[in-house]
Amino acid sequence: MENIIILDHPLIQHKISMLRDKNTGTNEFRALIEEIAMLMGYEALRDLPLEDVEVETPIEACMTPMLAGKKLAVVPILRAGLGMVNGILSLVPSAKVGHIGLYRDEVTHEPHEYFCKLPSPIELRTIVVTDPMLATGGSAVAAIDFIKKHGGKHIKFMCIIAAPEGLERLHKAHPDIQIYVGHLDRCLNDAAYICPGLGDAGDRIFGTK
Ligand code: PRP
Ligand code: URA
Repeated sequence: MENIIILDHPLIQHKISMLRDKNTGTNEFRALIEEIAMLMGYEALRDLPLEDVEVETPIEACMTPMLAGKKLAVVPILRAGLGMVNGILSLVPSAKVGHIGLYRDEVTHEPHEYFCKLPSPIELRTIVVTDPMLATGGSAVAAIDFIKKHGGKHIKFMCIIAAPEGLERLHKAHPDIQIYVGHLDRCLNDAAYICPGLGDAGDRIFGTK
């Protein structure tokens, strides 16, 4: 489907399998989330605009391509999306970072907003929204709604594991954004957790529960 990109590189698949393992501890889990975000970012950013600039090599002056336009914005959905930020920043260290704080109500599974701040001018930047988990899609749709309401236009959403239900909901609500997925899982369970998934991403990254 147009604008849905499943990044099935063997290195990404291998690391996702390690994430799924319930015996993977907090330290290793965090490192894996960051590494996967970096590998996914490498693919997801292949269409960043370039412009030729003049550079003097030790031999001669030449025109050579560099990233063009306003700096990239990385926007994690709190909390778990935070774990992916450094992976993207290792590729684009000058990127700006916004934050969207959402938590899912345990009963209704609906997202609730508690903090949002975006770098400006947001309308001129490529925006990469990060969240390891796309489950019902409620959080991702609310985050993209917020970014668009504030003028964001060039938006990419990056998740490590998606459920078919969430992927369909997000694509339907925002068909214009590119959605990058590390692995498409089977389904949601009654508690709206992804199966087989990896459990609660925020708790596993931050060692809470
Ligand atoms: C998790 C996850 C996503 C959301 C996905 O966050 O990181 O943001 O659930 O579910 P959805 O697609 O059904 O909206 P959670 O609300 O548990 O907050 P946390 O990251 O602070 O733990
Ligand atoms: N949020 C998570 O962290 N994990 C899931 O499986 C679903 C939502």
